[in-house]
Amino acid sequence: MAERRKKAFVCGHPIKHSRSPKIHGYWLNELGIDGSYEAIDVAPGDFARFLAGLSQAGFAGGNVTIPHKEAAFTLAHRRDEAAEAIGAVNTLWLEDGLLWGGNTDAYGFAANLDEYAPGWGSGNVAVVLGAGGASRAIVHALKKRGLGDIRIVNRTVSRAVELADHFGDGISAHPLPAVGELLSDCGLLVNTTSLGMADGDETSPVDVSLLPAHAVVTDIVYVPLETPLLAAASARGLKTVDGLGMLLHQAVPGFDRWFGQRPQVSSELRDMIVADLGG
Ligand code: ATR
Repeated sequence: MAERRKKAFVCGHPIKHSRSPKIHGYWLNELGIDGSYEAIDVAPGDFARFLAGLSQAGFAGGNVTIPHKEAAFTLAHRRDEAAEAIGAVNTLWLEDGLLWGGNTDAYGFAANLDEYAPGWGSGNVAVVLGAGGASRAIVHALKKRGLGDIRIVNRTVSRAVELADHFGDGISAHPLPAVGELLSDCGLLVNTTSLGMADGDETSPVDVSLLPAHAVVTDIVYVPLETPLLAAASARGLKTVDGLGMLLHQAVPGFDRWFGQRPQVSSELRDMIVADLGG
């Protein structure tokens, strides 16, 4: 009997801006896999029913994006270690009749830095701007890589304190105006906030001249690809890594689970998505 066509999805609300169908469609085509990956708009009130019907609809699994990541965490029957640590699920798969939830954001973050700034994890000190969902995934990635001094800086300091308490030893919380005092020994600066995302917002949120010459600066925002923070850091000769690679790398483990082959993040794929973002 011919094997059933493998199917996966990304669901969110809204969903039309998601780049995931382009990424997975590229890999399906490149690897010659008889499969599909479709974007599905699921309103919050319909999410639980949507998940309950996945097996019946023939899905191997899929991605979950805003606003369903926390609901997916609650509704999954089993969760991987990263999802447990982060408290959110972005990747689902069916296994032995159970719905599994994983989180690949921390993996994507670390893989992007491994590609463009190898050795980034050998430092001990990181400063993370922001204390939302994205920051949680990044703090988890930094802890897993063994960084011992992670400074979370946030406009609303109580959210940074909450995150620091959640992750425990080696994590501290700071108000945004104090960021300048935290940079002189910082090996990695990460922006997880939407600062620099809005049109006309052209100032770097941080005075990068306070960083040491060996510091790596990265932003998880990828529209624009060169954020004001990255532009300021490059102008000072610091190593910078943009956020697009995180988006591409976080997609790899899901594809592997649903379609059974581990895809490559190639420069051709990256160029295709860059062209798409510009259009
Ligand atoms: P995500 O899941 O993408 O991390 P989020 O949970 O809404 O999104 O978090 C957004 C982060 O960006 C928060 O750290 C937020 O700071 P607050 O906790 O103080 O809201 C930060 N942020 C957004 N806009 C900001 C701004 N204009 N100035 C400073 N921080 C900002």
